Amino acid sequence: MALRRTATLLAGKRGFSAVPAAEINVGTGVYQHFSDQDRIFTNLYGEQDWRLPDAMKRGDWSHTKDMLWMGPDAIVQEIKDSGLRGRGGAGFPSGLKWSFMPKNSDGRPSFLVVNADESEPGTCKDREIMRKDPHKLVEGCLVAGYAMRARAAYIYIRGEYFNEAVVLDEAIHEAYAAGFLGKNACGSGYDFDVFLHRGAGAYICGEETALIESLEGRQGKPRLKPPFPAGVGVFGCPSTVTNVETVAVAPTILRRGASWFSSFGNENNRGTKLFGISGHVNNPCVVEESMSIPLQELIEKHCGGMRNGWDSVQACIPGGSSVPVLNKDQCDVALMEFDDLRAKGSGLGTAAVTMFDNSVDMISGIRRLAHFYKHESCGQCTPCREGTGWLETILKRMEVGDADKREIPMLEEISRQIEGHTICALGDAAAWPVQGLLRHFKGDIEKRIDEKDTYDPEACFQKAWSGSTFANDEWVEKHGAGQAYGR
Ligand SMILES: Cc1cc2nc3c(=O)[nH]c(=O)nc-3n(C[C@H](O)[C@H](O)[C@H](O)COP(=O)(O)O)c2cc1C
Ligand code: SF4
Repeated sequence: MALRRTATLLAGKRGFSAVPAAEINVGTGVYQHFSDQDRIFTNLYGEQDWRLPDAMKRGDWSHTKDMLWMGPDAIVQEIKDSGLRGRGGAGFPSGLKWSFMPKNSDGRPSFLVVNADESEPGTCKDREIMRKDPHKLVEGCLVAGYAMRARAAYIYIRGEYFNEAVVLDEAIHEAYAAGFLGKNACGSGYDFDVFLHRGAGAYICGEETALIESLEGRQGKPRLKPPFPAGVGVFGCPSTVTNVETVAVAPTILRRGASWFSSFGNENNRGTKLFGISGHVNNPCVVEESMSIPLQELIEKHCGGMRNGWDSVQACIPGGSSVPVLNKDQCDVALMEFDDLRAKGSGLGTAAVTMFDNSVDMISGIRRLAHFYKHESCGQCTPCREGTGWLETILKRMEVGDADKREIPMLEEISRQIEGHTICALGDAAAWPVQGLLRHFKGDIEKRIDEKDTYDPEACFQKAWSGSTFANDEWVEKHGAGQAYGR
C-alpha cells in the first residue's frame, strides 16, 4: 500500500519537484520561450558547482529511495509512458528496451552499461552532462539500473574525455560517501555499484557490442547479433547499453511525471532534448530545448542565427555526421524530431546540428567525413573495410573534378552495397552522408567535372581561423603556454 502511494505521488503529478522552485537555480534565462523551469539539466553551463551539495540543491538525489520503492516494473512503465526514446542515435523506445532485461535471474547478474563514448563528429552533449551535471547521470545509473534489476552500472567513457572522467569519478565517490550508492543504496535495501571505465578513443567502441568487447578487455570489434546484449551482454551476462543522456533524464522524469515529459514535442517524439549546434552560426552551443522545435527557430533563438543570415544556409547535418545532409528548402521547414527528419531522408541521430553556409564546398565536406569513416572502420566486414576506402578515393577525385560523370551512379551503388550489408551500423553511417550529397548536390559534382580547369582549391578551403584578432589575446599572454596550470 505504501509503495503504491509513493508511486502515485511521484508518477502521477505534473510539476512535482522535491525541491521548492525558489531553491532551484534556473540559470540565466537564455532559454526564452522554453521555460527555465522545464529544463532537466539546470547546470549545463556550469553556473553552479557540479559537486554533490549544489547538485542536491538542484534537486538531484531527492526522493530517490521513493523512486526505487515504486518497483522496477512501475519505473519501466513510467519511462514507457513518458515516450522517452534513446538519445544515443537510433531513437529506440527506452522503456521497451529496459523491459527486455530478464525479470528473474538464472544465476547470472544483470548489468547496465552506460555509453559515454560520444565520438560522433559534431556531438558533444554527453560531455556537458558529465562535466557540469554529473550527479544527474550517477543518480540515473541507480534508477535505470534498478529498473533493469541490474547489480551494477559500467560507464564506458571515451579516452579523450579525461577531465570529464575525473569529474565523474569524483561524483561517483561523493555518491558512495553519502550512502547513495553501494550497499543499501539510498537506504532502499538495494545494493548497487557504479564503475567508470575509460576507453582508448575509438569511434567504433560506441557501437554497443564493440563497447562490450572493449569493456571485457578485447579489441573493440562489433559482435554479430543475436544474441542481443539483453540475453548475452557484458561478461556473458544480461546487459543493456544505453546513452548518457537517456540515463541522466530518467530521475527527473520520475520526479516530475511521465505526462510532464511527454507534454513536449509531437506524438512519438516526446520530451526535452539536448542539441549540440556548430558550424556557421554566430554562437555554437549545447542547449536543452523541446523536441520538435523548428530547425530555424533553434538556430535563431539559441545561436544568434547564421553568421550571414538565414538566407546564407546551404545545408545542414541535423543529427551528427552519420545522417544525410538536408538542403536549404528542407532546412526552412525541418522540425528537430525523429519522424520529420526521417521523412526528409535524414535523421535526428545524436541531435548534433552542423550548419553549412554557402561558402562551403559540399563535396569537400562529405569527402572529409568519408575519410573519418574509412579511418574508423574496424575492418571485419568486406563492404565496410573496402567500401569506405572506395568512397573516399572517388570523392577525393570528384572534389578536384578529376572524375568521369559515370562514376556518380557508381558512387551511389557502392554506398548502397555497403548500407545494410555489414555487422554494425558504421557501414550505414559511412554510406548515408554520401547518399545525401548525391541526392542534393549532384549538380555540384557534375559542374566540378565540367569546370575542372577553373577549380581553385584555395577558394574552397575552409579556414579554421576567421582572420580577425584572437579575442582572448590578453588571457593567452597571461595564462598560455601551460602557465594556467602553475608551471
Ligand atoms: C559506429 C557507432 C558508434 C556509436 N557511438 C555511440 C556513442 O558514442 N554513444 C552512444 O550513446 N551511442 C552510440 N552508438 C549507438 C549505440 O550502439 C547504442 O545504440 C546506443 O548506445 C543505445 O543507447 P540509447 O538506447 O540510449 O539510444 C553508436 C553506434 C554505432 C554503429
Ligand atoms: S560495419 Fe565496419 S565497423 Fe562495423 S563491424 Fe563491419 S567493418 Fe567493423
